[in-house]
Amino acid sequence: MLANTFTKTKITDRWRFLKKFIQNPHDVGSIVPSSNRLTQKMLEPIPWNHVHTLVELGAGTGVFTQMIYDLVRPDCQVAVFEKEEEMRELLKREFCGFHMFSNALELKDSLSSIGADRVDCIVSGLPFANFSQAEREKIIRQVRETLREDGLFITFQYSLQMKTMLEAAFDEVSISLVPWNIPPAFVYTCK
Ligand SMILES: C[S@@+](CC[C@H](N)C(=O)[O-])C[C@H]1O[C@@H](n2cnc3c(N)ncnc32)[C@H](O)[C@@H]1O
Repeated sequence: MLANTFTKTKITDRWRFLKKFIQNPHDVGSIVPSSNRLTQKMLEPIPWNHVHTLVELGAGTGVFTQMIYDLVRPDCQVAVFEKEEEMRELLKREFCGFHMFSNALELKDSLSSIGADRVDCIVSGLPFANFSQAEREKIIRQVRETLREDGLFITFQYSLQMKTMLEAAFDEVSISLVPWNIPPAFVYTCK
């Protein structure tokens, strides 16, 4: 379904991303935004017609956000979390109508503030590998508590480090490798 959906990453976005990585490699976690192939793989499992509330964690320069913007139902409530201030301000300008928040560690309270206690889908670009175990647990616990029973959590990582934790937290976890990305990435789709 998403085969023809293409998001072009602007040179200015690539440059901004690299600059932010140099300033804060721990939070940014990658030197370039995700590739188009990775973006498609991440968003492929989403049943767009049935999604009324969607959350994106760690949006960066907005490669996933752009495709989400193009594919969501017009009445879908979308909340985007991005910690880096300049990137968040740019996302706010580009994707008007989407709710913007700064910190994924405050997922539940932020969603409560817009009346979205339960959501259909959470897409994450967060660099979990760089977080402490306590931070990972805090975010995954809130993801579980926030998702509807049949909801989807989709995340990517550059290793299989999150496999055990996600398998313990969700009933079903499927993993696929996307080689066409710098670096190659694993996509975890969790139900
Ligand atoms: C690997 S980048 C992914 C960016 C984008 N989703 C992509 O795939 O190109 C991770 C992003 O997560 C953001 N981030 C890190 N910690 C965060 C947190 N606690 N809350 C929200 N965003 C966070 C970083 O600022 C960075 O933009």
